[in-house]
Amino acid sequence: TEQTFIMVKPDGVLRGKIGDIIMRIENKGYRIVAMKMLTPTAELLAQHYAEHVNKPFYPALVDYMTSGPVVAIIAEGEQVVAGWRHMMGETNPTLANPGTIRGDFGREWQAEAMMNLVHGSDSVASAQREINLWFA
Ligand code: GTP
Ligand code: MG
Repeated sequence: TEQTFIMVKPDGVLRGKIGDIIMRIENKGYRIVAMKMLTPTAELLAQHYAEHVNKPFYPALVDYMTSGPVVAIIAEGEQVVAGWRHMMGETNPTLANPGTIRGDFGREWQAEAMMNLVHGSDSVASAQREINLWFA
């Protein structure tokens, strides 16, 4: 069965949305097969966000993502990678559709960082890479 890597980001934890986000995963019929809470290190994030390390927003992204604990989740189900991306909504919460997590709970950018509550792997290959990284 296909698996994806999901994360409740620090703003999602701080704002008390862990339960709502987990409920959406389960309501959709995906199965949570692993879950843990941790505060990511800058080293872990540099690997996770390797494609972004040279972008202008990267320092703000690291500050945001190391600002507190996250919930790291492996979820499983048919086409869960694409399905979860759909449920998250667009990267920018201002543009994300109502009904999506980012559309329902995301409001604006704070400081330099685009806070958008959740992460989901963008492909099956990324999912495998990220699962190996976060659940080594
Ligand atoms: P992730 O699930 O976190 O990977 O989000 P995504 O796949 O929707 O977006 P992407 O991988 O392109 O970017 C990763 C994260 O970097 C985003 O979730 C944002 O928090 C942040 N980010 C992306 N693009 C920008 C940008 O243009 N400006 C700022 N400030 N942050 C950005
Ligand atoms: Mg991404």
